[in-house]
Amino acid sequence: MKCAITGALSYSGRYLAASLLSKGHDVVNLSRRGVPIAPEPLSAPQARALGTHRVRLDFNDVDAMARSLEGCDVLFSTYWVRFADRGGESPHSIAAANCARLWEAAKRAGVQKIVMASHTRTSVDSPFPYIAGKAKAEAALRDSGVNYAIVRPCGIFGDSAQESILMNNAAWVLRRSPLFLLAGDGSHRFQPVHVRDIAALMEELGTSLKTSGEEVDACGPDAPTAMELFTKLRDASGGMARIAAAGPLLSTATITALTKPIDWITGDTLLDADDLDLLTSGLTVADVPDDPRIKARRSLFEWIEAQGRDLGRSYVSSVERYYTVDTR
Ligand SMILES: NC(=O)c1ccc[n+]([C@@H]2O[C@H](COP(=O)([O-])OP(=O)(O)OC[C@H]3O[C@@H](n4cnc5c(N)ncnc54)[C@H](OP(=O)(O)O)[C@@H]3O)[C@@H](O)[C@H]2O)c1
Repeated sequence: MKCAITGALSYSGRYLAASLLSKGHDVVNLSRRGVPIAPEPLSAPQARALGTHRVRLDFNDVDAMARSLEGCDVLFSTYWVRFADRGGESPHSIAAANCARLWEAAKRAGVQKIVMASHTRTSVDSPFPYIAGKAKAEAALRDSGVNYAIVRPCGIFGDSAQESILMNNAAWVLRRSPLFLLAGDGSHRFQPVHVRDIAALMEELGTSLKTSGEEVDACGPDAPTAMELFTKLRDASGGMARIAAAGPLLSTATITALTKPIDWITGDTLLDADDLDLLTSGLTVADVPDDPRIKARRSLFEWIEAQGRDLGRSYVSSVERYYTVDTR
């Protein structure tokens, strides 16, 4: 099978590419990136080949994208953007429009199935531009006339601490700050998935070319509250921070503002304007928690235990990863 993957050298796309290549499938890498964000699980020759023969998507040129997808049986799309506040128009609405053009290109190229990585609990009328943008991209996919599947993560943790930016940088703060404030009462839940599990789910759905309309959560078995999650992260990484729920006293905007000195030091944006609101919104858990596939996936708690020594040792910048791409 010939498979196109957005970001075959990036995060989840790397694991998907490695698995498909190991089974003898061809992979077309749709990416800006010439070198992987981390070497494993690709072999050095695989990473070199994907980097050398990559295709940079031009979302304004549907014909060119269609030519890049010619001969592909399936398109795996992990494409999205991290921040809402870079550029004039909301980048989430731009990303949604870009997805719709990518679906159109895939259709013109005769791609048989498209698998999209979305987000848990999307809705077009969501106040969150990220969630509404994902819902619009999903709607365009349903209308595309191409067989499709949608997988819905709310967070992804990987083989290494460094590639798991959210967990790593939370641990970085927990190691260095005397106080770690949680928004609200700290009882909101978060149910991320291991990167190998979301890659396996995408592969399973994408290689079933004849089926269509699968829409499933990509969540893991552990759904800790914020208090449970950050306490576990602190204890596993050897941090000393006191973890306290801010309650009604401090708004999410105030807590986000308190992290700005970290941004001045790192040159990154640790928290985007509405990140904490999204984390406390109830949208970061599975829609169908009883799905038996969820129980069979890798445990976040076991992962934190195993990665504890590495988590938060050094800071990982989202700005560097997504906005200063090494295109060698
Ligand atoms: N990671 C999470 O915790 C998480 C949580 C919820 C939902 N999701 C969703 O799951 C999907 C996969 O996530 P991931 O973390 O595995 O993504 P990723 O590999 O970091 O990035 C996926 C793709 O988006 C492209 N991309 C990222 N920023 C871009 C920018 N500023 N301009 C142009 N292209 C950009 C990347 O292009 P390059 O290959 O050129 O870098 C890559 O092809 C995404 O759609 C994401 O929204 C992820």
